[in-house]
Amino acid sequence: MRKIFVGAAWKMNKTVDESIDYAKKLVRFIDDNLSESKYIDVFVLPTFLALYPFSMLMSNSKLKYGAQNCFYEDEGAYTGEISPMHLKDIGCTYVELGHPERRNILKEDDSIINKKVIACLRNDLMPILCIGEEERCADIKKVKRFLKNQLFSNLNGVARNDIGKVIVAYEPVWAIGAECAAPVDYIYDMLGYLRELLAKEYGEEAGKDQIIFYGGSVNLESSREILELTNNNGIFIGRAGLNYNFFTGMVKNALNVERNMREIEKNNKSR
Ligand code: PGA
Repeated sequence: MRKIFVGAAWKMNKTVDESIDYAKKLVRFIDDNLSESKYIDVFVLPTFLALYPFSMLMSNSKLKYGAQNCFYEDEGAYTGEISPMHLKDIGCTYVELGHPERRNILKEDDSIINKKVIACLRNDLMPILCIGEEERCADIKKVKRFLKNQLFSNLNGVARNDIGKVIVAYEPVWAIGAECAAPVDYIYDMLGYLRELLAKEYGEEAGKDQIIFYGGSVNLESSREILELTNNNGIFIGRAGLNYNFFTGMVKNALNVERNMREIEKNNKSR
């Protein structure tokens, strides 16, 4: 059965106290509701300042946490940077890389993002690599060419054995911070295309099993349809994840999808 991720990146929002309050409620919710669930993974990426308190709060929880960025070296004279080795040390599971806000505002290019992907893998952290075209464009061939180039330049040097440790977040830039998510059939096609690319480069398994999920203006309502897409491994949430009720509502939607998948599997087996 396919794994379903429900993850939120809080960007530069919430003080440490606000983050802790939210996390305490969320840990309770996750541990009460996901104890039976084998296929759902819920995570939060708060600001760096909240990561240490999160490591205290979540050490025995199913809820996972991670960072929104890291540097590509493990230690040394890199003033102001955050080491992937230190993130691993405080129990992070994930590190988001290549978000368009970092590409565009902080001027991170493909080669920097690629070095960060490699640094995460070296430290046994799972990179969540964000890729996506800048503008909505009717020329789908052009979009696909862009995605192929971005994906493979960001994955340059990732070994076959390691590709399964990379999560790909498909986030069309035009759908981030927008009124609504990209249309579901469009998401389905693009996720399918990314799977094809990975299958060609890394083998059939990678195409099929790679964790690839969608992000960009997902809200409580759209989350249901997006989670149901059979080639999708989940949702990556910005604004709606700042709200506890919306976020837990989306986790409940994931639980419903998981329940339906189990039913289908049971029926198939008994046939
Ligand atoms: P949004 O952010 O859900 O607020 O559009 C998504 C993202 O930036 O990944």
